[in-house]
Order: sequence, then structure tokens, then C-alpha cells
Amino acid sequence: MHYVRLLRPPATEQSRSHGQTLKLVLTIATDLGDSYLSPLAPIELSVLGASTKVDENGVSTTVPVNLTPQVGRPRWQAGMRVLKLDVPLPPQQQQQPISAIQIRPADGKLLALRTADVCADCKDGGKGLIVPVYVDMPPQDGSDARYLSFRSLRLPLTIEGNASVSYPVLQVEEEIGEARNLARHIWDGGLVAMSLIAEIGLAGNSVSGSALPILSGILRQSDGLPLNILELGCGVGILGIGITHVLGLLRPADNDSATDMPRPHVLMTDLPDAEERVRANIGRYLSSRTDERQRQQPLVDYENLDWGDGKNGTFGPNVHCHSWNLIVLSDCTYNVDTLPALVKTLSALHSHSASQAHVDGGKSCDTKILLATKPRHSSEKAAWKLMAADGWSVQEKVVLPLPVLHAEGQSVEVYLFSKV
Ligand SMILES: C[S@@+](CC[C@H](N)C(=O)[O-])C[C@H]1O[C@@H](n2cnc3c(N)ncnc32)[C@H](O)[C@@H]1O
Repeated sequence: MHYVRLLRPPATEQSRSHGQTLKLVLTIATDLGDSYLSPLAPIELSVLGASTKVDENGVSTTVPVNLTPQVGRPRWQAGMRVLKLDVPLPPQQQQQPISAIQIRPADGKLLALRTADVCADCKDGGKGLIVPVYVDMPPQDGSDARYLSFRSLRLPLTIEGNASVSYPVLQVEEEIGEARNLARHIWDGGLVAMSLIAEIGLAGNSVSGSALPILSGILRQSDGLPLNILELGCGVGILGIGITHVLGLLRPADNDSATDMPRPHVLMTDLPDAEERVRANIGRYLSSRTDERQRQQPLVDYENLDWGDGKNGTFGPNVHCHSWNLIVLSDCTYNVDTLPALVKTLSALHSHSASQAHVDGGKSCDTKILLATKPRHSSEKAAWKLMAADGWSVQEKVVLPLPVLHAEGQSVEVYLFSKV
């Protein structure tokens, strides 16, 4: 999978002859930025703007504006590492300003726009080879917002959903620039695990032939018990916030039986470096949930948790005061040096949850682990040996082929572990 990535915040330039021009510097590379897209034939790119129109009744609608330069249409071709684009902005920009732009391949067949595109093997899967980038406009000088872009993915409607309802969308911010800071970018493991959960949870799709019944049962709270989900190494929060969104959509609106159901609770954790971005993403998610079902929504929060502390059973107050039915983590097993602390943290959380069960529903809590990883090197296998040595065994597993254009096939592996 490749991502369109802005390397610098977009800038606007005013010239007498051409009016306002948007200056973009981008690349198309893998999540780690270690390999650039190298297509067999050049790929045409589109630049789309979103403009908000307010009618005489004060109702606002988003209107798409095609900003793609028609002369010298932008293309990405093999051998490229960076592409600079000058995009003339339409003259009506003063009255109808562009609020966001999207840069994407012009050919819709290449696009990852929906979770079903990412899980290319699911029932109605497309082939999401390239993830577009979005950026809010105008860039706000002097604030962090200038250095942020976001990804946007359409989730499926629930099985009961009806086609007249608009599709739910998940937006997650990440930093502009190369993926140097691991905690401030989206990784394939998180993107795929989130898409898998959306597809099996909301659409009831089986992905790669597997419906993961135990995981589906946990998400649907089929035992009627409180559902507390803890994420380790959440990065920008795509998996935890995606799960929160899915759990919210699974809760029926204005239904007495639903109000009796305990609200699910999702707590994301990482090192302090991740905190600002994941909190901003929680805010983005919460402000997108404006319907009256708000009171039914899962609780979502963040707290720092370093595995160096977690391995000794040292947790912050939010982790400490709950038992955790499900721990999720994606792309956290690539560094063999941190694996022993990570696995010991998982086991310490299992013991802690068993001892805390009286707090959450009074039933003994058997913590399960959902681990997603895009294998990057063979030494990662050490994680599985450490898990087995600590008594963890695999209950469910699915291997999802990752859509990749003109390059060696890749995959994301998803495991559900429980303690023997
Ligand atoms: C490759 S990123 C994956 C981020 C996210 N899960 C995703 O899939 O997009 C690995 C994450 O693990 C976190 N991490 C690394 N060492 C850690 C530690 N000792 N304690 C807690 N988090 C850690 C990093 O800060 C980073 O956010």
C-alpha cells in the first residue's frame, strides 16, 4: 500500500498575472517511507477542493471543486521521489473559500477510499492501492495545524442500515513530512486492523475467508458485560478511534435495551510523544458525532503507558481502575529490543484485569489480545516465542493481503490471543 504524503505544508502565493496559486510538495511512498511508488505507466493525479456553500436559509453544503491543473496535468512516474505542484486557485476563492483539499490518483480503481478497499479480500472489496491525502485550508500560519494532513476512510453501513443514510467517515490526522516520528503517522497494521474490524463488525463481511467469530462476539458485547478495550502503542490513534466509531455505530439509537447495556470504554495509550496528536484525533472524532445518539456513544480517552513501566505492573490511574477484556495493538512488534517489555506488559495487564473483575460487572475477566502486524523482518518472530512462553495462545488468525501496485506482495497478519 502506498500513501500520498505532503512533504511540506501547502503554501499560497499571490501573483498579478495568475491570481492565487497553491504550492504543493508531495511524495507517494509506503508507510515507513522506505519505498517510493514505481508504477509501470505514469499515474495521473487529481487535486480536489471542498468549498462550503450557504443557501438563503443558512443551510450549508459542501461543494467539490476540481482544482487539477488542466495544462501539464500532474503525473507520478517510476523513479520519482518528490513532485512539486503549482495549483492555480479559482478566482471565486474570495467569496467561496476552499476549506480542504484532497490529492489522489485520478483513476478511481487505484484509490483507498473505503475500509472495504483496504481489506481487498473482503466480499465487496475494491483494490485500495493508494491512500489519498487531505489537508484543511487555509493552512493556519504559526500553529501546529499548518503541519497536519489527514486521512479519511468511509466505513460500511451497519447490516441493518439503509442506503439513504449517509456513510460514516473516519478522519485521522497525521504530521506532514517524512515518517520520522513513529508515533505521529499512520501505519499499515493500524489501517488494516481498523478496516477489518469495520468490515466484520458493521457489514458482517468475512475477510480473507474468515469471519473471526470470537472477535465479532466481543465487539457486539454478546455476553452483555461491560466492554473495556485498551490499546498499546496507539500512535495517532487510528485503531482505537476506529474501534470507538464502530462500537458507537453498533449501538442502536433510542432503544431501552441499548441504554441498559453498559457503554463500551476505549482507552488508548502510548509514550508522551504521541499524546498531542491522539488527543486531537479524539477531538476530531467527537466533533464529528453530532447526532442525538451522543449519550449512547462509547467513552474514549488517552493515557500515557510506557511498556518499561507496564512490564512491572505500573499503570496510570485510568488503566489501573478497570479490568480490560480486549487489548489491541498494531505494528508494535517491529522492534525486537522492546518485545520483552511489551509481552510482560500484556501479561501484567491480564493479571491486573483478573484481579479487578469485581469493579466491572463482577464476572471474572479473561483478557484477550488483538495483535496486528505487517511483518517487516524475520526477527519479529521472537514476539510469538515470548507470547507462547508467557502462556498466550492464538485463538483466531487472519492474513490479509495488502494491496500493492507493481511491487512485491505484502500482508498484514491479525491474531486473537488468549491465556492458556
Ligand atoms: C509503528 S508505530 C504504530 C502506531 C499505531 N499502532 C499504528 O498502527 O498506526 C509503534 C508505536 O509504538 C509506540 N511505542 C514504542 N515503544 C513504546 C514503549 N516502550 N511504550 C509504549 N509505546 C511504545 C510508539 O510510540 C509508536 O506509537
